[in-house]
Amino acid sequence: MSASTSSPSVFASSRRRYAIVGLGSRHELYQDGIEKVHAAHAQLVGVCDANAGRVELARQRSAQNGAPVPPGYRAADFGQMLAETKPDVVIVVTADAAHHDYLVRAMEAGCDVITEKPMTTDAAKCQQILDACRRTGRHCRVTFNYRYSPPRAQVKEVLMSGEIGEVLSVDFHWLLNTHHGADYFRRWHSHKKNSGGLLVHKSTHHFDLINWWLGAVPVTVMASGRRQFYTPAMARRLGLSGAHERCLTCSEQKQCGFFMDLAASPTLKALYLDCESYDGYFRDRCVFRPDIDIEDTMNVLVGYDNGATLSYSLNAFNAWEGYMVSFNGTKGRLEHRIVESVYVNGTETVQGGIADGGVTTRVIPLRGEARDLVPWTSTGDHGGGDRLMLEDIFLPKPPADKYLRAADERAGACSILVGIAANRCLETGAQVRVADLVSGVPRPDYAPMPARDGPLPMPGRRVRT
Ligand SMILES: NC(=O)c1ccc[n+]([C@@H]2O[C@H](COP(=O)([O-])OP(=O)(O)OC[C@H]3O[C@@H](n4cnc5c(N)ncnc54)[C@H](O)[C@@H]3O)[C@@H](O)[C@H]2O)c1
Repeated sequence: MSASTSSPSVFASSRRRYAIVGLGSRHELYQDGIEKVHAAHAQLVGVCDANAGRVELARQRSAQNGAPVPPGYRAADFGQMLAETKPDVVIVVTADAAHHDYLVRAMEAGCDVITEKPMTTDAAKCQQILDACRRTGRHCRVTFNYRYSPPRAQVKEVLMSGEIGEVLSVDFHWLLNTHHGADYFRRWHSHKKNSGGLLVHKSTHHFDLINWWLGAVPVTVMASGRRQFYTPAMARRLGLSGAHERCLTCSEQKQCGFFMDLAASPTLKALYLDCESYDGYFRDRCVFRPDIDIEDTMNVLVGYDNGATLSYSLNAFNAWEGYMVSFNGTKGRLEHRIVESVYVNGTETVQGGIADGGVTTRVIPLRGEARDLVPWTSTGDHGGGDRLMLEDIFLPKPPADKYLRAADERAGACSILVGIAANRCLETGAQVRVADLVSGVPRPDYAPMPARDGPLPMPGRRVRT
């Protein structure tokens, strides 16, 4: 399909030319970013997807945005899109396991690329992307929007300041609730061949945060994980007759607390239910299906090149959504917690929420009083992170960033390789060395961190009265 209403030449201007492949829910951020917020610097010249219905929806979205309607292409015609629309940059927002193919082909065609996280899902694909970057010299950006959330930049600021000294170990626990967490078990994410499992698909955000916060590179990984909540047995324990195929046709809709009504949401209906006829993809599959092969309970131990260690967990069936991270430093401890509200619960309520909006950050010196930080804030999705990230991507000259939040294939690799190594641990039970997975991962650029191994102030003695 090349359903063009406007010839690419109509767009000729000094604005950067972008094409998007993968036109599901996440792509809307980029399409609107180009066509609404940053139209002065950017133009959308082509859209591509495996699903013809979503190609048409993206083109309609351009019209709604008041932008020229770009030509649309099916996945098989991606090369034709590159040749006809001549994008400067290709944005890849497909299901994870397909990222590498589009990234490599776009770079080979002379385009820079932007990819959603995770950069890819296994070591062989990661190697292909790294090799293509080296071979072509093109730029590959990985959009780690979590880095741009203001409270996380605030944590980075404290760590860079040296207030808690050098970080020797980190405890990091991420909780997905039974709205958001369950949603991964309904969709393409529920098979490792599509997503790499949550240790890659979801944890790439978390491992990247730790790499970036510490300014360090992971070296060794140990992991355990299993699926114990989203199972057919759990469906029966919850009073259902067992797992079903999907919510739309389920005979136990009324009894099931995990029922998702695609037809009730105009957005989900248009994007998925009405597009099923093109590819047979169901967005509302039963979360208890036996064919699911991703874990819902995961623990990972990581050793870093600077000597620090990470103890990490991810659970997908929690009462609240968010995380707790603690950095144990030579001069003190930094504790940071965010309770998040999540779109899929529909109610915008924050279970387990706390009075200050869900964010606490506390610095506790080895001696003396702890201090609570007033959280840095911003507005918009992902705590304002998405807006800041789009500015970093689309502004011709983004403001200098002391935290170096813009990430490329090096950081993309360093984050997924922890999850990929963890997946290998689950198969073999043995510790994995990250360097054994791929070769030639250059060290990412990190902002300067406190020097390690230097003289330290002696903590004061405890005075008994
Ligand atoms: N940074 C974040 O916070 C964030 C949030 C959501 C999604 N994402 C990422 O964005 C990407 C897309 O996620 P989504 O939620 O939009 O999923 P989605 O299922 O809504 O959309 C995926 C789209 O890719 C298309 N597609 C799948 N395989 C394809 C292929 N081989 N060729 C062409 N098109 C293909 C599908 O038809 C669909 O339109 C994923 O990589 C996901 O990890 C990131």
